[in-house]
This record gives sequence, C-alpha cells and structure tokens, in this order.
Amino acid sequence: RHQWQGVVEEYRSLLDISADTPAVTLGEGGTPLIKAEKLSARTGAQVWVKYEGLNPTASFKDRGMTMAITKAVVQGAKAVICASTGNTSASAAAYATKAGLTCAVLVPSGKIAPGKMSQAIAHGATLLEVDGNFDDCLTLCRKLSESYPVHLVNSVNPDRIEGQKTAAFEIVDVLGGAPDIHVLPVGNAGNITAYWKGYNEYREHGLSKQLPQMWGFQAAGAAPLVLGHPVDEPDTVATAIRIGNPASWTQAETARDDSGGIIDSVTDDEILAAHKILSSEEGIFVEPGSAASVAGLLKMADAGRIPMDATIAVTVTGHGLKDPSWALHTADGSDIETKRVSVDAVSAARALGLE
Ligand code: F0G
Repeated sequence: RHQWQGVVEEYRSLLDISADTPAVTLGEGGTPLIKAEKLSARTGAQVWVKYEGLNPTASFKDRGMTMAITKAVVQGAKAVICASTGNTSASAAAYATKAGLTCAVLVPSGKIAPGKMSQAIAHGATLLEVDGNFDDCLTLCRKLSESYPVHLVNSVNPDRIEGQKTAAFEIVDVLGGAPDIHVLPVGNAGNITAYWKGYNEYREHGLSKQLPQMWGFQAAGAAPLVLGHPVDEPDTVATAIRIGNPASWTQAETARDDSGGIIDSVTDDEILAAHKILSSEEGIFVEPGSAASVAGLLKMADAGRIPMDATIAVTVTGHGLKDPSWALHTADGSDIETKRVSVDAVSAARALGLE
C-alpha cells in the first residue's frame, strides 16, 4: 500500500529542487480536504476545509520547512534560525532535528501559545524570548543571518514559499480544478503568496484551467494590509497572526489584485465565534489564528458577497491543540462548567439527562 512520501517527493518535478537531492521529511502534506456541510449551508456555497493542523508538527509550516531544511543541508548549513509567533519555530525545530542541524528561534515574549512553545523546547531548539513583537524578532533574525553562519528559514527564504505552494496543488488534485475562491488567514503573508504561486503554476502546466479569487483575512488588531500601513503594536487573541509589518506585503497585494480578491479584517469576537462553529458544528479543531479564514468567510456571507454555489476552499492553518485554552472558557472569560458525578449509574444517567 502506498504511503504518502511528503511534499518534496510527491511534487518534486514541480519544485525548485534537483532529482537527486535527498528530502528531509517527516511525511508532511497530503492533508484532508473536508467537505463542510454546515458551512456550506450557512453560506450557500460548496465549502471545503483544508485541514493543515494534520501536518507532522500540526501546522502548514511543515510544507515550507521540508524544502527550507532540505536546501539548507545542500548548502552546507549547520545551524538555522527563525523568528516566530510559534508555529514556524515548532516546525523549524523538528525539521532541523531530523536533519541534524542546530536551531535557534526568536519569539515575542509571553505571546506564544503553550503547545508551540513546548514543541520548540522538546525538539531541542535554543529559544530566545524577545522583549518585542514578531516584527522585531524577524528584524533581529535577518541581522543575525547576515552577520553570522546561521541560515534563515522564515518565509522571506524562497524555499519556504516553494514548499508551501504544494497545498494549492493538493486542492486542485482533489477538486479536479481550482476553486472559485480560496480563503485563508494572513499574518506575515507568506502563505497567501505561496498559494497564489501554486495555483498559477498548476495552470501554466495545464493541470488546471482557472484561478481562484484569493480572499485573505487579518485580525482587526493586526491588519496592516487592510489599513495600508504598518501597525506598531499589533494585538489579537489570534497570536499566530499578531504581526504588524508583513514581510511579503507586496506579494500579498499582488495575489489580491491579480486574482480580483479581497484582503479584509475580522474582529477577535468574530474569530472566536468561527472557532466555535468549526469545532462544534464541523468537528474540526483549530487554533484561533486559523479560524480567521472561516470568520472572514462568514463575514462575507453576511454581507451577501458569496456567489451562489461557488466552490470555496478554506485553509485552516494550525491544530486546536496548539492553543486549547479557548475551548475551556466562555466568551466573558469564565471557566466552562463540567459535571462531576460519583461512580454510580443512576447519578451518571441523571447528569446525562437520561433519567
Ligand atoms: N495561521 C497560523 C496558524 C500561523 O501560524 C500563521 C503564521 C498564519 C496563519 C499566517 O500565515 O504568516 O504566511 O501569512 N505564523 C508564523 C509563525 C508567522 O511564526 O508561525 P502567513
């Protein structure tokens, strides 16, 4: 029986890599595209959710990291470095370990979800908590990689984009063509850049006929692309996309404009409401940052902007277990109440409303 080989092997001829370069892989990609009946009913469209939380380190970053670390090894790197809101650091740490490289990660102090933090530490990365935000961390990493023998694996490294474009390939492979609309969260804007590249290249190779509109959504407190200027102190519950000055700014604008798409923002309340709909109606558990895409989809549906019966692919970027605390609190911040019973069938039945 065939085992999925990871995105480099599965799509090697379409990637910028030679035929004989051994891939550093943990079997990333090949994630499910799930038909979302409840979201389809809510929007009047055919909605498919690309569940990227099912990658090896539980986010889409693994697609880019397999390429970036594979290329780093080819180039003789011994150490890699990245700035991160959490997921990139988890992925870099795992793939560096797989390749036998050392890894340093710079993260904004106190703003990383516990699951992500534990991954970077467990995989043996050297972690620096920076008194600053993600944008400060990235600036620092760029400076360090220019002056010292450390290889930068943020999405400003084109190998990352190259690997991440495979998600678009997979969606076309499953749907038999590109969707009408592709919806995703936007932070540093690497992923929207990668998807747009992937959809375009598949069409150039004659593997799909059309291109989707690209619809990106930022958190309202961290929405530089919507405001048209950098945000000095980005703030949102969706820590993954708490970014004020995206590195791939112009590429994101190109994806939006050339596709006839949208980049808009969603509030934290809209993000948490979408998070709840995904978990309680679709059975899909994501981290808040990932729910920004679904929040955006629902916002557009409320505004009457979804064409009837359109085929829509929605990327949810990271797993809910990365940042599970949001499920344990109500909207006003109090703890969700759980029921306690003794070891007794009658009291259990009563608590379940069976008696
Ligand atoms: N969703 C999640 C779960 C993310 O971790 C990120 C980015 C995004 C969406 C946005 O993607 O930056 O390509 O526009 N996380 C980066 C990190 C910044 O450090 O893990 P983007």
